[in-house]
Amino acid sequence: MSAPKTSAWNSTLKLYRKLGIRYVSMEQTASVQAAPVVEEAVAEPVQKVSEPSAPAIEIVPQQAPVKTPWLTAQADTIEAMELTAFDQDICGCQKCPLGATRKNFVFGSGNPQAKVLFIGEAPGADEDEQGLPFVGRAGQLLTKIIESTQTWKRPDVFICNVLKCRPPGNRTPQPEEVEQCRPYLEEQIQIIKPKLIIALGASAAQAVLKTTESVGKLRNQWHNYNGIPLRVTYHPAALLRFEGYKKDVWQDMKEATAKFKELEGLT
Ligand code: URA
Repeated sequence: MSAPKTSAWNSTLKLYRKLGIRYVSMEQTASVQAAPVVEEAVAEPVQKVSEPSAPAIEIVPQQAPVKTPWLTAQADTIEAMELTAFDQDICGCQKCPLGATRKNFVFGSGNPQAKVLFIGEAPGADEDEQGLPFVGRAGQLLTKIIESTQTWKRPDVFICNVLKCRPPGNRTPQPEEVEQCRPYLEEQIQIIKPKLIIALGASAAQAVLKTTESVGKLRNQWHNYNGIPLRVTYHPAALLRFEGYKKDVWQDMKEATAKFKELEGLT
């Protein structure tokens, strides 16, 4: 059965999320399980029996979204379904010329219920080929950086980019491209609701914080993205070019994990 592609599906999922529903059964048939009927007493109807509780309703979608290759966690959470539906809504994007030159739209990858979100710049050649973010050399280094924290594992976090399509020759994203793509990133953040964001490099930091400051200036302090603490560090590709950034990235990860543990009550 094909996956629902419409924004209507996304709206339904948003409503579920607002109602506090976190999981949706993947069964294909609708089912509403009513509460047991309380028999009314015929004789001596003097004492009122306690009110029957509200019916327990199991919400079952008409169609379950297909599992996507970028998903590293359960597919039946509201966030996974919402992100999947959102991906399906936007993956054919042609808002800017990059839509015509890309091989694959690179939505992101990871756990839709991630507590930590890493944001990079844009897909490179490997990412464009595979349709997944950070799978090339810089991606392998990012995995090492994440795992070196001994607090996070790559499949537990979510990773995406400011731009979802590769700029030809890996050039720096242009301001108009960032503006066209920004709503996609904003919606991803709204769905995932991470506890902490880490911006990798100048493009990510500048796009999210709407600034033109350098990474050097933006590091070493906590920023606030709509109430979510955000830390800026060097992009792994910069680290591959200049090893001297290694200790700075290490320091940034230490700060970020300390904040994370504090937020999670782990300290
Ligand atoms: N660099 C990025 O910023 N993102 C990727 O996905 C890969 C390399």
